[in-house]
Amino acid sequence: MSFVELFMKAEHVLRPRLSFVSPSLYTKLYSNNRSAFLRLLYSLQNNPYYTPSPSLSKTLWGIHFQQPLFNAAGMFKNGEGYEFVASQGAGAYLAGTSTSRPRNGNHKNGIHHPFTTYPKSKTASNWLGLPNYGHKEIHNNISKIQKVEGCPIGISVSSAPEIESIIALKELLEGLYMFQDSQVDFIELNESCPNVAGHTKSDSVLDEHLIERLTEIATNFLSLRNRNLPVIVKFSNDTSPTQIPELIDTLIQFGFDGVNFGNTSTQYAKYREKIHFSEQYRYDYFTQTFGGGLSGEILKQSSQELSTIAVNHLKTITDRKEFHIIRTGGIDSINDMNQTENSPSLYQWYTGYFEHLSQHGLAIYKEFYEGYSPRI
Ligand SMILES: Cc1cc2nc3c(=O)[nH]c(=O)nc-3n(C[C@H](O)[C@H](O)[C@H](O)COP(=O)(O)O)c2cc1C
Repeated sequence: MSFVELFMKAEHVLRPRLSFVSPSLYTKLYSNNRSAFLRLLYSLQNNPYYTPSPSLSKTLWGIHFQQPLFNAAGMFKNGEGYEFVASQGAGAYLAGTSTSRPRNGNHKNGIHHPFTTYPKSKTASNWLGLPNYGHKEIHNNISKIQKVEGCPIGISVSSAPEIESIIALKELLEGLYMFQDSQVDFIELNESCPNVAGHTKSDSVLDEHLIERLTEIATNFLSLRNRNLPVIVKFSNDTSPTQIPELIDTLIQFGFDGVNFGNTSTQYAKYREKIHFSEQYRYDYFTQTFGGGLSGEILKQSSQELSTIAVNHLKTITDRKEFHIIRTGGIDSINDMNQTENSPSLYQWYTGYFEHLSQHGLAIYKEFYEGYSPRI
């Protein structure tokens, strides 16, 4: 086991015992050192590579996924770390979220890219603000990846929230064409990030700006694709269940290929009671100082509910092209991803991934699937 893996294991044991550290110092510690640590971590590789059992593999949209679980967006923002997850046996690799222009992300009270964890509650908060190098540089990084069979490449993209919407849309379309001209296998359109100004509020996913954007993308990109390049749309885990049927009908009608539920939550009051009492002071500090998005265990129920409604609605639509539901939010065990015909097709994880990584190191997917045999 490498030094970095040992460090993660030790930190995992220590983290829940840090409740005496002030919330601002704790947040500073976890935010300001995070990028440097991740750079070190992502330079590691499993040797030899772990290959999941062929019984776990899936072919969706004509693309081979060696198993159905992989990282959620935001983990490899700039197209780094492909070998890191491919060597672990990830089902795919998702880069981004990428925007047309580079973004520095959020900085406040001397804290760069604010992030904190509530380890006893298996939950985290972040207010990073979509930091990334921009489409061009990320496209360049992706071009250097040596693809591994069964671990396709996805890119999460978003319109740049800081610029006027017409220009942002034009630049988003340019980005989509840029990634079409790359070895990217699928695209995830991020319509749900709460950490940047200008995105839709969580309970109004079918607002007119969303429909406008989707129409433009459908007309000027989806119908003109020159190769197999599925585009899925990711919404918040705060999406209202009542909107899902309409949302799915709209996406299918526009020619999208899937939907992901979903992104982080901003329902701070609703989830406060699910946070361990000893971590609530840190929760209050973070949500009141930065806001940001909540991730991890607290999203398990919403992602389960939203993806189930989506799968059930999809089954009622008979005359349609291939379309898949992806579940993200609170995935941290094989029990969260039963592979039956009523299940989502794919799963993504972020908070649970790091939880498992700190316990099991690079053997993360091997450990995850140990003793598991899929039902279909
Ligand atoms: C630190 C951090 C950064 C994230 N960055 C992005 C991002 O750039 N784009 C995006 O669509 N989602 C982003 N997310 C949301 C995750 O992709 C995922 O939807 C969310 O964390 C719920 O999954 P989880 O409960 O497994 O963590 C981020 C989450 C975290 C914790």
